[in-house]
Amino acid sequence: MKFVLASNNPGKLREMREILSQLGIEVLSQREAGIAVEPEETGTTFAENALIKARAAMEASGLAAIADDSGIAVEALGGAPGVYSARYGNCASDGERVELLLKNMEHEEHRAAKFVSNIAVVFPNGDELVTAGECAGELTYAPRGENGFGYDPIFFMPCFGRTLAEVTAEEKNSVSHRGRALRAMKEKLTEYFKEKERC
Ligand code: IMP
Repeated sequence: MKFVLASNNPGKLREMREILSQLGIEVLSQREAGIAVEPEETGTTFAENALIKARAAMEASGLAAIADDSGIAVEALGGAPGVYSARYGNCASDGERVELLLKNMEHEEHRAAKFVSNIAVVFPNGDELVTAGECAGELTYAPRGENGFGYDPIFFMPCFGRTLAEVTAEEKNSVSHRGRALRAMKEKLTEYFKEKERC
């Protein structure tokens, strides 16, 4: 069975391929599926935005589609930037967004934060599945590390004693919000296919 990924992010494509190939699912990039959709993310939750992206890719390709929506939620900022993580402060780069978040947390000692990912799968028959994953940590006072992307250099994980930009991709996948949501989706899809076989 083929799924199209509603994203052009090669990192997300690799992660999804790794996990879903275990179910015999081939994940195609938008280019491979011959589509190029980028719907406006008008939802107010990660689940809504993941569904908006997956529905658009399914409608354009006629294939089952999978999408992820993710971000960082900082406790002392009431969960901001949350669903607006990619657009925080209208900044042009990851580096600027990291700087802005550190500036907004400059005088704050309570530094708990979490990454959140919601994954949606939408089938051509209209069936929709959604899963969520979280990864808890603390914001540092300055960026550290060269790996990863986005807010990884300021996301300290006590279990590693390092930021997510200082751990390997395997270490990150084992605890990350997206890794958790994806493994939950693998379980949900297994149940879904079993149920379909019974009908
Ligand atoms: P999305 O691609 O619309 O889901 O936007 C997610 C945004 O949240 C990205 O631009 C990053 O800034 C941030 N983000 C999500 N996941 C991660 C992660 O694993 N590490 C660092 N930043 C992340």
